[in-house]
Amino acid sequence: MKVLNFGSLNLDYTYALSHIVREGETIAATDVSLNLGGKGFNQSVALARAGIPLYHAGLVGEEGLDFYDACETYGIKTDYMKTVTGRCGHTIIQVDSEGQNSIILFGGANQKNTKEYVDEVLSNFGTGDIILLQNEINELPYIIDQAFAKGMTIVLNPSPYNEAIEECDLGKVSIFILNETEGQQMTGMTTPTTIVSSLDASFSNAKVVLTLGKGGCIYHHGDEELYQAAFDVKAVDTTAAGDTFTGFFIAGIIKKVPMRQVLITASKAAALAVTKNGAAQSIPFMSEVELFEI
Ligand code: RIB
Repeated sequence: MKVLNFGSLNLDYTYALSHIVREGETIAATDVSLNLGGKGFNQSVALARAGIPLYHAGLVGEEGLDFYDACETYGIKTDYMKTVTGRCGHTIIQVDSEGQNSIILFGGANQKNTKEYVDEVLSNFGTGDIILLQNEINELPYIIDQAFAKGMTIVLNPSPYNEAIEECDLGKVSIFILNETEGQQMTGMTTPTTIVSSLDASFSNAKVVLTLGKGGCIYHHGDEELYQAAFDVKAVDTTAAGDTFTGFFIAGIIKKVPMRQVLITASKAAALAVTKNGAAQSIPFMSEVELFEI
C-alpha cells in the first residue's frame, strides 16, 4: 500500500501582530518570517513525522525550489512533484498575541494542475493505495474521480471550503477530516452534533472527524462515535494545527491503531504544534508526541 498526498505547497509570509488588522487600519508587525507551508505540504510533513513513508505530488513555482530539499529532509518522496513557470503559491499570515491567525492565500502554481499531470501522477498508484487531498489545488473533482476509478482510498480535508468542494463527487470519499466552520459550510448545520449527523446521513459509509479547536474533536463511523477533549497548552501560533491533526490521524488509521488512541495521539500532536511558531516546522516528531503528558 502506497500513500500519496496530492496537495498545495505555499511560501508562508508570517507577520506577528498585536491583533489581526481591521478594515482601514495600518499596524506595525513585531516580527516577520518566511516559512514553507501549505495545507498539502504541512500534512505530508505530519504524516512523515508520524512515521508514514509517502509521496507528495503538486506544483511549485520558480521561487519554490526549497520545497524539494525540505521534502528530502522530512523523508517525503518528490518523484511526482513538478516546477512550473510563474509564482509559487504563497500566503500572508497574520498571527496575533493569542496565537490566532488570519490568512490571505494566493494559489499560484497550486492552481496550474492539468488533467494530463493528474493522470501522469495517478498512473503510479492503484487499488488499496491511499490518496490525501485538501482544497488548495485546482482539478480536485477530477483527481477524486480518477483516484476512485483506480480503487484508491480517498481522504479529504475540505479546507478551505469553497464552491470547488461542491463540484466534487463526495460519495467517493472514505474519510472526511474537517473543522467546525467547514462542517457548517458543508452541511448548513450549526452545532457539532447536527453537523456530524448530517454528514453521516449524506455519507454513511465514510469515517468523519470533526475538529473543534480547543473544544476537542468528534469521530463518527457507523455505530461508533467518540469524543476526544483537546490538550490544554499555551498557544503561540495555531497555524498548521489542523494539518498536524490530519497527518497523525491518518497515520494512526494506516497503522491500524485503536480509534481512541488515534484520537489521543492526533490531539496531542496538534497541541504540540500550537506551542511553536510557523507551519511545517511546528509539527512534532512521533517521539515527542509519545513523551507529551499534561
Ligand atoms: O493550514 C495552514 C496552512 O494554510 C498554511 O501553511 C498556509 O500555507 C495555508 O495554506
